[in-house]
Amino acid sequence: MPQFDFLVIGSGIAGLSYAAKLARHFESIRQTVSIAVITKVQADETNTKYAQGGIAVVWGESDTFEKHINDTMDAGDGINKKSIVEIVVKEAPERIQELIDYGTRFDRESGGEYDLAKEGGHSDHRILHFKDVTGAEIERALLEEVLRHQNIEVFTHYYAVELITQHHLGETVYRYRDDIKCFGAYVLNRRTGEVEKFLAKTTLLATGGIGNIYQSTTNPTIATGDGIAMAYRAKGVCDNMEFIQFHPTSLYQPGQKPSFLISEAVRGFGGILKHADGSTFMENYDTRLSLAPRDIVARAIDSEMKKNGVNHVFLDVRHLDYDKFLEHFPNITQYCLELGIDVRKDMIPVVPAQHYMCGGIRVDEWGKTNINFLYAVGECACTGLHGANRLASNSLLEAVVFGHRAYESAVAGFDKAVLPDNLPEWDDSGTTHPEENVLVTEMTRELNSIMSNYVGIVRTDRRMKRAYDRLELLHKEHEELYKESKISVAICELRNMINVSYLVIRMAMARRENIGLHYNADHVK
Ligand code: FAD
Ligand code: SIN
Repeated sequence: MPQFDFLVIGSGIAGLSYAAKLARHFESIRQTVSIAVITKVQADETNTKYAQGGIAVVWGESDTFEKHINDTMDAGDGINKKSIVEIVVKEAPERIQELIDYGTRFDRESGGEYDLAKEGGHSDHRILHFKDVTGAEIERALLEEVLRHQNIEVFTHYYAVELITQHHLGETVYRYRDDIKCFGAYVLNRRTGEVEKFLAKTTLLATGGIGNIYQSTTNPTIATGDGIAMAYRAKGVCDNMEFIQFHPTSLYQPGQKPSFLISEAVRGFGGILKHADGSTFMENYDTRLSLAPRDIVARAIDSEMKKNGVNHVFLDVRHLDYDKFLEHFPNITQYCLELGIDVRKDMIPVVPAQHYMCGGIRVDEWGKTNINFLYAVGECACTGLHGANRLASNSLLEAVVFGHRAYESAVAGFDKAVLPDNLPEWDDSGTTHPEENVLVTEMTRELNSIMSNYVGIVRTDRRMKRAYDRLELLHKEHEELYKESKISVAICELRNMINVSYLVIRMAMARRENIGLHYNADHVK
């Protein structure tokens, strides 16, 4: 039965940056601590690894904190928490410098200055990037940093199933009690099939996004909302779950999951959205044209596709300097070429796909949830930074700023945590190995269809009611299967996706006005 000082669930930018900070801190004061990082597959398989465009930071001379703050608030339709926006924007340069110190490379111009790109909704050039594979570079550098520390142990292929709280001591735990405590998590060792008790004085959820509740998403298969669902079941509070970001330009490639992203930076570089006949349409929607914030561009594309009865629109980069384009976007150029799309001659077919969850587990300015000794950072958390819609390249930034803040708070509260000694082992008596894997596959398909058809870019009261009713049925069927079955990752992921979808639908139904990413056609004023 492993016991740790710090348990970190997730090995993307949020989990790794927090773990690295903890490790350095305790080494510097020569105190021995144990830090466990668990991750459900191999360590680098994360949303972070697939990030393309980059990380936003005020770095250039013409740029100011005020401009970045205003752009973030504007993209978020004004319901962002201003104090959090200010914290993130102002602390960004220091956190980015630390990433650079860990060995992260960002592209430079010929003069040696960092090359700052521009993306939708940004009023200045402020995106640090490494070609079109920024996330992979950050993940590489952070993983190397984490592996340098003796006080961190990385457990790959370990799947967190449930958070441990007083509930497991037989107490009834209510959501708005302020004395709920987290003591770690029950974790499935995927190699042995056994559920192990990972006790910890402090736990961090850094489990990333929820993309796989939808049929098409840019997120890898790990993004099943596990952390949000675990926190919710443990009586954590979640916010803003109705604000699902659809990226306007994923490559149109029917049946491909995850969808391949054509970075917003391509539009920042001069790419233009067009129809098959070469006509443009963004002038009918926003003065910022192809570089308007994502919610506006995704809705515009959705509307054009419906109006014209087509499955996708196009992104035209044929007028751009090919050599420079290739230098900036080698991965995108190559991926397209392998599919027979030569960006010099062909327009790129694109379609919106689910991309990011703006809501999540409610946390304060230190990444603390309403459950004591439980933090949440990164895409699974809701800090209030994004409001109703996230500004491009603010996600990696939020994760690294809050990774630092959660680390500071966890260190300050470290001595206060006490673990009870009578926490039970995982109890799976009376369950059997499920013979019905086909049920899980089919239920997942059904869930994807409910969410994509009824709770997508454009919603209506009737669609959401239908989604709610269908989901209720699915939830009941799945709970029966779950209770009878020995734990498997597929069953747990489906359970989590159903829980998360419930939160999305419930919050979407409750919101009466159209704002940011939430658009209900029955409520247009
Ligand atoms: P992740 O990086 O997703 O890491 C989650 C971790 O949690 C993984 O290690 C996973 O294995 C683990 N995990 C999950 N559940 C469990 C469980 N039950 N048990 C154990 N481990 C678990 N943002 C930007 O700012 N700029 C960009 O350019 C950008 N481009 C993007 C491009 C793509 C294609 C995608 C998909 C996203 C992009 N984003 C971008 C968003 C950004 O990448 C993510 O929001 C961010 O990386 C999330 O980091 P994270 O650490 O919170 O989660
Ligand atoms: C992109 O490269 O378009 C993704 C940027 C982001 O999600 O912030």
